[in-house]
Amino acid sequence: MTTLPKPRQPELKTSLPGPKTAAIMARDAQHLSTSYMRPYPFVPDHGEGVWLTDVDGNTMLDFFAGIAVSTTGHAHPHVVKAVQEQITKFTHVCLTDYPQEITTSLAERMVRHVEKPGEKWRVFFGNSGAEAVEAAVKLARNHTGRSHIISTIGSFHGRTYGAITLTGSKTKYKRGFGPLLPNVSHVPYPNPFRPPLGSTPETCGQAVLDHIEGLFQTIIPADEVAAIIIEPMQGEGGYIVPPADFLPGLRALCDRHGIMLIFDEVQAGMGRSGKMYSFQHFDGQNGMNCQPDIITVAKGIASGMPISAMLAKESVMTWPVGSHGSTYGGNPVAAAAAHATLDLLEGVVKHPGCGDSLMENAAQVGEFIMTELKAMQAEFPFIGDVRGAGMFIGLEFVKPDGSPDGKLRDTASMAMFERGLLNLDCGEAVIRISPPLILTREEAATGLDIMRDALRALK
Ligand SMILES: Cc1ncc(COP(=O)(O)O)c(C=O)c1O
Repeated sequence: MTTLPKPRQPELKTSLPGPKTAAIMARDAQHLSTSYMRPYPFVPDHGEGVWLTDVDGNTMLDFFAGIAVSTTGHAHPHVVKAVQEQITKFTHVCLTDYPQEITTSLAERMVRHVEKPGEKWRVFFGNSGAEAVEAAVKLARNHTGRSHIISTIGSFHGRTYGAITLTGSKTKYKRGFGPLLPNVSHVPYPNPFRPPLGSTPETCGQAVLDHIEGLFQTIIPADEVAAIIIEPMQGEGGYIVPPADFLPGLRALCDRHGIMLIFDEVQAGMGRSGKMYSFQHFDGQNGMNCQPDIITVAKGIASGMPISAMLAKESVMTWPVGSHGSTYGGNPVAAAAAHATLDLLEGVVKHPGCGDSLMENAAQVGEFIMTELKAMQAEFPFIGDVRGAGMFIGLEFVKPDGSPDGKLRDTASMAMFERGLLNLDCGEAVIRISPPLILTREEAATGLDIMRDALRALK
């Protein structure tokens, strides 16, 4: 048992769903898009830090941060102040046509986390992850004059036409929507827990690299490939961390063939993994380099305000004036929220109880969560794998024969919700733990106790 102090517990005042939640969900089911999913009945009213209170007054502990978005928690005073101040100045002018200091300084700040000596990067701002991905693919094609794009099985890159074509996680994103983008191929992701291509956890990275080289000999001419796009840590596909030699190997492969390497950091980036960008866990290790040519970020960048960014090496960002833009992209109010979020991530502004910076807190509290979850595997043999980095953690449910147990995962997810822990699934049988990065060790312990209690009820 965790014996740390528990500062606050979820408070459930009604049975779930409460009457107001049920009424709003019934209206929602009548009037909103039939495509929206509703994994469990929750209708938020307000939030504070890592706590969200629903319209019936039930307060829950947030272990998913609106799908890895609410980096600084809910209604962080520093973010609220930044938004309020900017909204009283101006809300919109259009960055595509007019420069704005707030986005200029945001770009300067973002590239500092990726630039190496002698290297310069530039930033394009959009509104969503999918838009950043679209921009990345357009830039790679425009820069190389090539058309083919290689993506990975299990990946998620968004829901616009280009992005669903690249996505390789579920057919539901594609069924009935074709024709999609031409010249896109998918290769396996090197998942050490379920190694593809007959490989082992140790050899799966090299196996995927060999597979790609094989495709270049047989099916896809390498000199027609514009880019390989990959999540350095796969999100929607199951919170998977590749072996350490894979991304440097992929960088070398791209260099051999003049291919742009795009890292989609929309889910794992912006400090969530304990480093600003998740690829930085591998870059520079044992003298190996995996600096990409293009990076996409969104989600955690602005604590929930809509803004995304596509960062590219200056030598790659060669598309001509007017060739790409966005009416709202780089909106100044969202940019103010991004600055405030970066203040906290970098530690320019400290959050009480979270050490020097939220990035450091993500690394330290994330490690605590991971250690505790690994210890729980002894009690719960159906937890087949615990993996991740920082506060990007996946918990895979397995059947006795080791195959994925999606049904048990769903039951576990609901049992946690019913005890006041907001969580979310991903992959075939995984619960993702992606809390706000302000989560303290004590709050983490509270969440872990709820998880334990819910899992015991499954036995
Ligand atoms: C890795 C990755 N890329 C792109 C996207 C698409 O982002 P958005 O939903 O903001 O378009 C997501 C969303 O989950 C994602 O996880």
